[in-house]
This record gives sequence, structure tokens and C-alpha cells, in this order.
Amino acid sequence: MRILVTGGAGFIGSALVRRLIEHTEHEVLVFDKLTYAGLLSSLEPASKSNRYGFVQGDICDAEAVRAAIADFRPQVIAHLAAESHVDRSIDGPGEFVQTNVVGTFVMLQQALGYWRGLEGEDKASFRFHHISTDEVFGSLGETGLFTETTPYDPRSPYSASKAASDHLVSAWGHTYGLPVLMTNCSNNYGPYHFPEKLIPLIIIRALNGEPLPVYGDGSNVRDWLFVDDHARALQAVFERGRPGQTYNVGGNAERRNIDVVRAICASLDRKRPRADGKPYADQITFVTDRPGHDARYAIDATKIRDELGWEPSKTFEQGIEETVDWYLNNSDWWQAILDKRYKTERLGVANG
Ligand SMILES: NC(=O)c1ccc[n+]([C@@H]2O[C@H](COP(=O)([O-])OP(=O)(O)OC[C@H]3O[C@@H](n4cnc5c(N)ncnc54)[C@H](O)[C@@H]3O)[C@@H](O)[C@H]2O)c1
Repeated sequence: MRILVTGGAGFIGSALVRRLIEHTEHEVLVFDKLTYAGLLSSLEPASKSNRYGFVQGDICDAEAVRAAIADFRPQVIAHLAAESHVDRSIDGPGEFVQTNVVGTFVMLQQALGYWRGLEGEDKASFRFHHISTDEVFGSLGETGLFTETTPYDPRSPYSASKAASDHLVSAWGHTYGLPVLMTNCSNNYGPYHFPEKLIPLIIIRALNGEPLPVYGDGSNVRDWLFVDDHARALQAVFERGRPGQTYNVGGNAERRNIDVVRAICASLDRKRPRADGKPYADQITFVTDRPGHDARYAIDATKIRDELGWEPSKTFEQGIEETVDWYLNNSDWWQAILDKRYKTERLGVANG
């Protein structure tokens, strides 16, 4: 298949592209603006393949999107391009509305125009796969799980913009018959994760001897999924999912933030002990909470398991060990980000 991946230079997009190049015969075209979060270095392992192509472009630019689709003639559009960091959405929500809402609208319009021009099997097999988040469902109490029918209740500018984009995708499916698929996934982690996000931020700051900031009292719960397992789920959905359907994707790995941070510290204590022999956990500091911080997310991923046979392949403990190893062995990748793009400072405090 020919698969156009928007946001393919990001964390999850690049994991999907590396997977498709390494483990399938599919052809891939990455369409990515290369914002602060887009890194060609994350695509380096795939870039030598003659089944890989790259176009630098903005999903809000209808003509650029149209031209890329017309040239590549994709059978699948996997739409991952987005502004993805909740803290940045608190500081600057406008970019989130523009990219996540307007950009998704542009993608849908261009996909629709292209799909309408297809015929026969090409038209029947085309899929527009929108990649979204469990954060659209809001915040859970101590019990309960998000299912595909949980009502939307987004709380942050990020999750509100993703919820809006999900609604547009659903509307283009119902109103125009565009064969859409949607996945709502829990928190991802793993190699090539931009250092603004909790797990790489903690690893890198620990190694640099800096305080390890934990928001509030650290009791907020997230479900964690190793990014390669997410990429495998995305492939299962666009290859075999039923058009018009939504699938929740999760890791069966609920953890409190403080326990995630402690697990990283314990792993580093074993693999790269501090010079002074003290535990990395001594660097933990509790800081002002994120405004509107959702208490708990948890996913019921029964549907994708029953329909498509997908399950996470790694436990959280295995995934964290692998991730810590990757950051220890690939400091060139993240040091280049620290030098030029982001120095792990606090974002999203919403002062004033
Ligand atoms: N990270 C998670 O835990 C998680 C969980 C569930 C769903 N998601 C969703 O998965 C998708 C990918 O997330 P990620 O963590 O890989 O994000 P990321 O921030 O790492 O990457 C986003 C990519 O999109 C590109 N991009 C941004 N604006 C663009 C534009 N206007 N035009 C073209 N490209 C643009 C960036 O350059 C970057 O390569 C997002 O839609 C996100 O909402 C993420």
C-alpha cells in the first residue's frame, strides 16, 4: 500500500514510519511541517529505503496538501500531524486550534476531493485514519475506563482541539461518506520522545543532575503504552479496521506520575549510578500543579483486541527499561534538541 503519514517526523509518526519501512512492503510518504517537534533525525533509520519519501509542508496549506496527495496517490492517509503538548496548549492555544482543528479540516477536504475522484477498488479501499487521544474523554475518578462510547469532555486547550478534530472526522464520514477510521490512544512513551514530555524529561534531567519536577502531589494517573505497540495498533486499524469505526488503544498500564518517576530513578540507579552513590530519587521535587490537571485516564481496549487481535506486547516495566537504555545510548539525539530547541524548562504554568 501507499501510505501518506502526516506528522511523520514526530514521536509517534516516526515510530509508525520506521515500523512500516522495517516490517512491511508498504510505501510511505511523510508530510510534515518540521515544527519544533518534527525531527528528521527520528526518520534517519527509514530514510535510506526507496519506499520512503518526505515532503515538508503545512497541513493548513490546502494547495500543498492537494499536491502531495495528487503526486503520491495514497491508499491510506494516516493523519498524526498536530500540536501535541498540553503544557504548550496552556501557554499558546491559538496554534493548537490552527493546526489541530483547521489543519484537520484541510486534510479532510483534500482527502474528500481526492477520494471522490477515485473509482472501483481504489475508491472502496481508501481510508482516512485520524490519530487521536484518550484525553478527549476528560478525567476519571478512581474507578472506570474510557470506552469508544464514553461522552467527550475535554478539559485542556489541547484535548479540546483534538476533540474538535475528532468531531470533524466523524462528520466527514457521516455526511460525505469518506471512509474514516479513528483511534484514541493513551499516553505513549519510548525512543525518540521529545524531552518536553514526562518520561524523557525525567531521564534527561536526572542524568544532568537537575531537579526532577513532579506536578502537584504526583498522584495523577495515566495509562502508558510503548510507542511501537501503538504503531502496530495503527497498522492493524488502517489495514483491517471497519470504516466509520473508532478504536480505543491502551497499554493496560495505569501508573501514578510519581511511580513513573520513581521507576525511572530506580532503573537509572542500576544502569548509570550517580557518582556520589546517592539515589536519583533524591532529585525529585514537587512543583506547582498543571492548571486543570486531569486526575486519571484509563482505557478499555477490548474492541481492538476482539476485532483486530491487537494487544500491547510489553509490560510497563519492560518498556521503561528499554526506554532508559535508549536514552543512555542515544544522547546525541537528545543533546541536539537541548542545544537548539528546548532546554527542559517548565512550560504551561498559565501565570496571568
Ligand atoms: N504522544 C502521545 O502520548 C499521544 C497519545 C495519543 C494520541 N496522540 C496523537 O498522536 C499524534 C502524534 O503525536 P506525537 O506525540 O507524535 O506528536 P509530536 O508533537 O511528537 O509530533 C507532531 C508532528 O506533527 C508535525 N506538525 C505539527 N504541525 C504541523 C502542521 N501544521 N503541518 C504538518 N506537520 C505538522 C510536527 O512537525 C511533528 O513532526 C497527535 O495527533 C497526537 O494528538 C499522541
